[in-house]
Amino acid sequence: MASVKLVNLYKKFDRVVAVDGVTLEIPDGDFVVLLGPSGCGKTTTLRCIAGLETPDEGEIWIGDSIVNDLPPKDRDVAMVFQNYALYPHMKVYDNLAFPLKMRKVEKGEIDRRVKEVADLLGISHLLDRKPRQLSGGEQQRVALGRAIIRRPRVFLMDEPLSNLDAKLRLFMRAELKRLQRELKTTTVYVTHDQAEAMAMADKIAVMNKGKVQQYDDPNTIYSRPANAFVATFIGSPPMNMIKAAIKQVGGNVVLDAGSFSYTLSPEYSEAVLKGAQSSEAFLGVRPEDIRITLEKAGSSVFQSEVYVVEHQGANLVVDLKIDSEIIKAITSPLPLQIGQKVWVGFEESKIHIYDGKTERLLV
Ligand SMILES: Nc1ncnc2c1ncn2[C@@H]1O[C@H](COP(=O)(O)OP(=O)(O)OP(=O)(O)O)[C@@H](O)[C@H]1O
Ligand SMILES: [Mg+2]
Repeated sequence: MASVKLVNLYKKFDRVVAVDGVTLEIPDGDFVVLLGPSGCGKTTTLRCIAGLETPDEGEIWIGDSIVNDLPPKDRDVAMVFQNYALYPHMKVYDNLAFPLKMRKVEKGEIDRRVKEVADLLGISHLLDRKPRQLSGGEQQRVALGRAIIRRPRVFLMDEPLSNLDAKLRLFMRAELKRLQRELKTTTVYVTHDQAEAMAMADKIAVMNKGKVQQYDDPNTIYSRPANAFVATFIGSPPMNMIKAAIKQVGGNVVLDAGSFSYTLSPEYSEAVLKGAQSSEAFLGVRPEDIRITLEKAGSSVFQSEVYVVEHQGANLVVDLKIDSEIIKAITSPLPLQIGQKVWVGFEESKIHIYDGKTERLLV
């Protein structure tokens, strides 16, 4: 086991900057997820750690040493790919045994380890089959088994569950998390699925355009997104972002969204005035933090019109029209009709205000 550290990693393909100054510290034994949209540089970052890509700049540390100049086989990492890459002509037993055979491990020891890993992954009954005689989930477990059998210092996993159907994916993600906690092997896991990242990670590095946007535990990523990109990438439906002009009325800041305005407390006003780089802001509020009432209740509420209602499990996702703006709210069941006028409100402690120019969190 070992920690992994990336320092100012930079990788360009022709004119495409795939990884643009990534710095990350992954503590020994942690499960870290690289999360971001397609093309943001997740796989390239992982391949640099594995030694399958050579970075143009930056340092890659595994444990106490820089591994930039070590070939992949000497880095003591195991990579699991999206497409498993099992050897089709070999039985499951030999697929599992292969990494140990390559390292000239003695036969009795190989047999012991294959059986141990097969037992751990619940595939002991499949050892005599060829990969094509296995389901997707079974193949996935064999691929994992092949990665863990030689107990590398680090696991690198690139969307390993993406070929599985939704149900199996949920099952395998729990299995994988449990396995990682049991083995305590430092793991870097790539996905573009935010739910998977939230469910599995000790820490998430949210990436966009080759850069790490935020690196925090899942709870902080969700409750304190550092910028507008992270705020709108995480959550289903994602955070509402309402553009508003920053105005001062009396001593307080008022966010004027045109269709409504929101008066901030002195504390929030001060934070906005101190940090703002422009006269505009984005008012961010998660759908579940919007309160819908049929009658006017409390202050800081705005009238809006029900535009669409969707069922999501026991709750409703309601599209609300405030003038020309549509925001999404999640609510417990209410008798709502399309076109109906309702009142919406949100508490100040639940809102996030981002600078209109830098898109960074102000408060
Ligand atoms: N070998 C290559 N040659 C040229 N460009 C590449 C190469 N590999 C990756 N890229 C480019 O680098 C960028 C980052 O690619 P990368 O595969 O790291 O993204 P990703 O985050 O893994 O995306 P996805 O979620 O689609 O797998 C993309 O613009 C991609 O087109
Ligand atoms: Mg990828």
